[in-house]
Amino acid sequence: MSKVTVVGAGNVGATVANVLAHKDIVNEVVILDIKGNFAKGKALDTWQQAPIDYYSTKTTGTDNYKDTANSDIVVITAGIPRKPGMSRDDLISTNAKIVVSVTKEILKHSKNPIIIIVSNPLDVMTYAAYKASKLNPNRVFGMAGILDTARYRAFLATALKVSPKEIQAVLMGGHGDTMVPLPRYTTVAGIPVLEMMDKKKLNAIVERTKKGGGELVKLMGTSAWYAPGAAAAQMVESIIKDENRIFPCCAWLTGQYGLRNMYLGVPVKLGKNGITEILKLKLNKTEMKGLKKSADAVKDVMNTFKKMKIK
Ligand code: LAC
Repeated sequence: MSKVTVVGAGNVGATVANVLAHKDIVNEVVILDIKGNFAKGKALDTWQQAPIDYYSTKTTGTDNYKDTANSDIVVITAGIPRKPGMSRDDLISTNAKIVVSVTKEILKHSKNPIIIIVSNPLDVMTYAAYKASKLNPNRVFGMAGILDTARYRAFLATALKVSPKEIQAVLMGGHGDTMVPLPRYTTVAGIPVLEMMDKKKLNAIVERTKKGGGELVKLMGTSAWYAPGAAAAQMVESIIKDENRIFPCCAWLTGQYGLRNMYLGVPVKLGKNGITEILKLKLNKTEMKGLKKSADAVKDVMNTFKKMKIK
């Protein structure tokens, strides 16, 4: 038996629930939102899709945390999304309070869940949830790297006229414009990408990736949901199936890459106990410099959060 709660019935939360239901790998998905009827509607719509798309995952909506009791995994998407002109960091004053209070409510009804954070600013919201939950940090981590690498991989697929399936890549750092895509660790069906594309073209794709979220905010007036929702569902899948797949995730660092006491995007293995290993890549000087810069940007936002002194 496995139960997953998705907090937030907005575009991202509803997509997580819908994609997860389609995977047919958990018994129950609960969507919780302060707008209870909205959550119920999204859950009912997904349930009514089941006879068409053939899955058995039971989906229910609620505004009552009691209904989330004994969840194995909780995906937190609650909070407001970006509007054009906003950075993810601009969301902290609203979203930090929401993420802390949601985490505390969840812990009243589920003892030792795995918590996946999707709310922005991602790295610091993951830190906020970790502090509020007092769980082992292997069980509290954030979704960003899968989405950011997916964007990078999709851009590469378009440029190279190949299937996105062929592109494998690693990307590190925070979920912001300082993220660090890693061309040295990018392959096309096993072929190093630098053998397939000149540096200038690749650099342009790296730069577009860094602002990939903003590009969508500009197009739609709000932030993306299909790829972010599918990315979170993929993390749930690796945990539920104990696959130990390797993904870039926002993880608690204890000295890896010279960084500690903070959350940042790094490649990890995801299995039934959450993060089972943080991989240590042999980064070169430029890559390390990029990662350090990204860590500094996240630390700035962490300081803002700490000053908020949310109880
Ligand atoms: C994005 C949001 C979800 O990158 O952070 O689209």
